[in-house]
Amino acid sequence: MNTIQSINDNFASNSALSLREYCSDDMWLTEALEGDPDVMRDLGGPTAHDRIEQIHRRRLASVMEKTVWYFTICPAPDGKPAGTIGIWESEWQGLPINEMGWMLLPAFQGRGLVTAAGRLILSRAKAEEKWMEIHAFPSVNNAASNAICKKLGFSLLEEVRVAYNGPPQPSNHWKIELRNSQY
Ligand SMILES: CC(C)(COP(=O)(O)OP(=O)(O)OC[C@H]1O[C@@H](n2cnc3c(N)ncnc32)[C@H](O)[C@@H]1OP(=O)(O)O)[C@@H](O)C(=O)NCCC(=O)NCCS
Repeated sequence: MNTIQSINDNFASNSALSLREYCSDDMWLTEALEGDPDVMRDLGGPTAHDRIEQIHRRRLASVMEKTVWYFTICPAPDGKPAGTIGIWESEWQGLPINEMGWMLLPAFQGRGLVTAAGRLILSRAKAEEKWMEIHAFPSVNNAASNAICKKLGFSLLEEVRVAYNGPPQPSNHWKIELRNSQY
């Protein structure tokens, strides 16, 4: 199993934060995250129950084909996931880009977990020279995600309209170039 273990991360200095590759046992997590109206508030609302299995299978296939990095965020030594973080190929204004996104179960929000997980995945991306330029598109209303982008070293480019579930919403376009970054 592909795992990124935290070593000298700020958040994880006294804990065992790790990122574990998304696997066939993780459909419950996709349902708990993407079926939850609070988690999906700034992402166009919850995903219908009957689409979850399809999303899970497609995600699993992409992970196995290595066309995405999709990890569960595991904050405790027991390895139980609290959320997900990933980088995947996408398209912006007709051009291929790499995009990053994250989600946490409500009980785990507000502890700096995604910032710590983001540092791990960006360090690994730079070390492997896999995704050297990465974009993120949080809703303008998603204060925590915009704060996370800033803390991770992304630069704010512009306000745009982006759709996830449902119609396009005002979103911030952030980008990081890893070559000259802190990672
Ligand atoms: C967005 C989300 C990932 C945040 O993760 P988290 O680990 O709980 O993030 P934190 O609560 O530690 O907040 C990160 C930063 O945002 C800041 N922040 C949180 N809420 C804020 C608010 N309302 N206004 C301003 N800053 C805020 C925090 O202060 C923190 O900065 P700090 O560490 O300097 O204090 C999580 O809330 C989530 O999963 N939301 C639902 C799914 C989602 O929206 N995903 C993102 C799609 S782009």
